[in-house]
Amino acid sequence: MAHKASAIAPANIAFIKYWGQKDPKTFLPFNGSLSMNLSDCTTHTTVEFREDLTTDEIQIAFEGGAGASHAGPVENEFAPIRREDGDKHELAFAQVDRVKALAEITAGARVQSRNNFPADSGIASSASGFAALTLALVTAAGLNDLVKNHVALSTLVRAGGSVSAMRSVMDGFVEIAMTADGADCEARQVAPPDHWLLFDLVAVVNTTKKSVSSSAGHLRAETSPHFAKRLEDLKIRLPQCRQAIQARDFGILGHVMEEDALSMHQVMQTSDPPINYFMPETVALMEAVRQWRAEGLPVYFTIDAGPNVHVIVEESYVNTVREKLAYFPGVQRVIINHPAQSAHVVDDHLF
Ligand code: DP6
Repeated sequence: MAHKASAIAPANIAFIKYWGQKDPKTFLPFNGSLSMNLSDCTTHTTVEFREDLTTDEIQIAFEGGAGASHAGPVENEFAPIRREDGDKHELAFAQVDRVKALAEITAGARVQSRNNFPADSGIASSASGFAALTLALVTAAGLNDLVKNHVALSTLVRAGGSVSAMRSVMDGFVEIAMTADGADCEARQVAPPDHWLLFDLVAVVNTTKKSVSSSAGHLRAETSPHFAKRLEDLKIRLPQCRQAIQARDFGILGHVMEEDALSMHQVMQTSDPPINYFMPETVALMEAVRQWRAEGLPVYFTIDAGPNVHVIVEESYVNTVREKLAYFPGVQRVIINHPAQSAHVVDDHLF
C-alpha cells in the first residue's frame, strides 16, 4: 500500500449542462452532459493514511478568497473543513470513509487540497475537487484497479456526490451518457485534448461564495415549469453538441452551448424558490459577446452556476478576446484555459 499519494485534477466547463437530480441518494442526474477539461483551473490534493491519526482531517486552501466567509479558510492558507458543515464538506468526509471501507483501512486520513482558482463561483470547483480527492484516496489506498480504470473511477466519483466530477476523470472532451432506461449514467471520452485547440477565457467578475449551492439548486430543478421542455430539447441538443465537437464545427458548438446555458438559467430563475446567479456584469458580458459576434468575431459564451462568464474562442482569436475582456468594466481577471488531461497522479506532495 502506498499510504501517501497526490493527484491533480482539472475543473471542466460544460457545453451541455447537468442540472437536476432524479435521485439525490445516488446522485443520478436527469440528463446527460458534455464538457471540456480546463488546463488552468485545477485542484491539487494529497492524501496520507496514518496509524497515529484517530480521526480523518481535511484541510483546504482556496485561491482568490472564495469560501473565506463560509468554513473559515483564508485566501491561500490551509484551513480545516468539518463534516458538520454539511453539503460538499460532509460528502468529502464520506468519500474518505467510502475508500477506507473499500480498502479495509482503519488508519486515519490526512488530506490537504489546494485550488488554483476561485471556488464556489461557477467554475466547477466540486468537479476538480472530487476528482482529485478520489484519485489521491484510491492511489494512497493501493486500489490499483480503480487507479487504472477510469470508468470505474468516475462511478466512484459520482457515488461520492459530484456528477460533474465524473467528467474530470477522462481526458479532453467528456460526456456523461445516460443509459437508455435513464436509471444509470456513465462517463465517456468524446475526443482527446489535442483534437481541437479551443480556449475557455473565464472572465472573473465575482469570487464570493454563491448564495445557493448547486447541490440545493439541483433539487429545485423539477419545480420549474420549463424543466420538462429542457429535458425534451436535450435529446436533440446533446447529440448536436457531440457531433459539433467531433466535426470541429465552431458555429454549431457555439450556438448549442449558448442555447443550453440560457435554458439552464431559465430553469434556475423559474424554480421555486427561484435562483439567480447573474450579476449586472454577467449580463453586460453576454451582451458584449453577442455584439462582438455581430461585428464578425467568432466568439460564444456559457455560464455555470455562478456569475462568471466563460468565453469560448478558437486559437486565432484568443489575444483579441483576452484584451477585450481584460479591459471590460467589472472583470477582475481572465483565466485562459485550453483542453486538458484528466485527473492524474503526481509525485509532488502538499505535505
Ligand atoms: C452548472 O458543479 O455542483 O456546473 O458536484 O455534480 O453537484 P456536482 O456539480 P456542481 O453542479 C454542476 C452544475 C453546472 C453544470 C455542469 O457542470 O454540468
